[in-house]
This record gives sequence, C-alpha cells and structure tokens, in this order.
Amino acid sequence: MGLEVIPINGFIGAEIRGADLARLDDAMFKVLHDALVQYEVLVIRDQKAMTLDHQMAFGARFGPLSIHPFSPNMEDKPEVILLDYSADHPAARTDIWHADETFRPNPPIVTILRARIIPERGGDTCFSSMTAAYRGLSERMKQHIHGLECQHDFKPWRNLFEGSPALRAKLRELEDEFPNPWHPVVRVHPVSGRRAIYVNRQFSVRIKGLKSDESAALLEFLYAQAAVPEYQLRVKWQPDTVVLWDNRSLLHYAPHDYYPQRRSMERVTVTGDIPIGVTGEYTPETVAGNGMVNPTEAPKKPPKRHFERTA
Ligand SMILES: [Fe+2]
Repeated sequence: MGLEVIPINGFIGAEIRGADLARLDDAMFKVLHDALVQYEVLVIRDQKAMTLDHQMAFGARFGPLSIHPFSPNMEDKPEVILLDYSADHPAARTDIWHADETFRPNPPIVTILRARIIPERGGDTCFSSMTAAYRGLSERMKQHIHGLECQHDFKPWRNLFEGSPALRAKLRELEDEFPNPWHPVVRVHPVSGRRAIYVNRQFSVRIKGLKSDESAALLEFLYAQAAVPEYQLRVKWQPDTVVLWDNRSLLHYAPHDYYPQRRSMERVTVTGDIPIGVTGEYTPETVAGNGMVNPTEAPKKPPKRHFERTA
C-alpha cells in the first residue's frame, strides 16, 4: 500500500497514512522528507513496531543525530532524550513557544517525537508555522525586519548553574562552548526557499542595532505571531503516535495541563546547518506557501447583500 499524505489545516500539518517506520525504505523516506518540507509537521499514527533503533535510523536519514548538552540523555543512547513526566517529576519548561536549541550556532533541523504513555486528558503539543506567519505580515513590516539579526541564549537552563562555585564554573565552560549565536530574524528555508520568522521567546535575547526597548517591542510583536490560530496545528497524541517537525520554520509549545498524570515520550533530533537569512535589498518573497494568508485584495465584484437582491 502506498503512502498517503493528507493535509490537516490550511497552512500547516499533514497526516501520513500507510507508513510503517519499522520498515522504512528510500522511496518512503523521500515522500516523508518532501511532505515535511511542505507541511512542516507530520503526524504518523500507530507505529507500534517502531523501536528506538528504528526511530534513530529514521532521524539519521535526515543527517547526523545531535546530542542535547543540558537535558538528561538516555544512558546507552545519548542521542535520545526521554521526556518522562509524572507526579514525582513535573514537566520541564516546554509551555513556551520555541524551536529546539536555537542557542546553538546550528540548531537541529528536525525533531522526531514518539509517544509511549499518554495522559487520559491533556498533554497535547501545539505547533505554529512561522512561514505562514511571515506571509501574514504586511509588506511594510517585512521590509522593516528584512536583514535583521537576533542573538540567542540558553537562558532557560541558566538557573541550573546557580548555587555553588563549581556550578558557576561549569556555566562559564558552557558559555565558552556555546557562545551566543546571531541568527537571522527572517530565515530562508534551505530546501523550500520559503522565508520564516526565526525568533522565539525561549531563546531569543535581542535584535542587533536596535535600542533595548525597540528590540523588546519588536520581539514581542514577532513572538505574538505564533499565537495566531490560523498558523497553528494542535496534535492529540495516542500511544505510538510519531510526530516530526521542521525546526527550521516552525515553533512548538507543550501545554502543561496534565500534571500529575504521566506522559512519556522519546525524542530524537537531527544536527542542523547554520541558519541563512535574506540578504541584499528587500524583494518580495516569490516562493508559494500552503494556502493564502490574510488576502488583502477584495474580490472585484462584491456579492450582492440580501437587501440589494430584494430591492
Ligand atoms: Fe521543544
């Protein structure tokens, strides 16, 4: 049986039917890769047969797997993060719109998450297309953010290194290892060529060349775009649901609405490339996205209203 790619929302997301990730071949991977670039997040249900090795092999087809520098990794498979939250172990700070690990010079390009244990209620993951968000801006705003750069930092983890001189020394080491990168505010997707707003509340710090209040106001405006429902997809998990997302053009948010129930997932990420922005003089984007965002042109002949038809 062939793979089916079924778009979910107007601007974001597709469900894949007929896939068995335990028996992935080149042709199937090509369909999944291309669908991911187009729809940015893929939902694949009922992958009971998929083992961790299969999941890692799937990720490795996109590129070398990456190892998270702060999060506790699986002992014998450091490329895997076990996100296992329960009454004794409340969820980490994932209830904030972010792309994974943008404090790195080359943040991961893809994240593959597999659900093992799902709470009875809650525990969804929300996604927001930053390519759609970019297309939704006015031309004047696109010109305004054209060519800007933003600094990123591993700020949510800084408080792990407070409290003792040894921890503070470790923090200095990590600061040397992960010097704050400057990423473009508008990233060009290396495969699709689409432009995406590339800042996020979890890791972005300040925009180069702006005063701090100007930077803060512009970042707040750009962060707020992730909250526009038209750009979003909300995934309801079941055990053995696999979701992969394109970390280059998408933000995600995991609501903390399931504590003290248990939610257990396995995460694999793929090493990325250095984000490239738009360069040179501003020109409008020419690559088409999914659907039309906020059409501004009124139809040539507006439909007659009821009282006009009966007059
Ligand atoms: Fe994340």
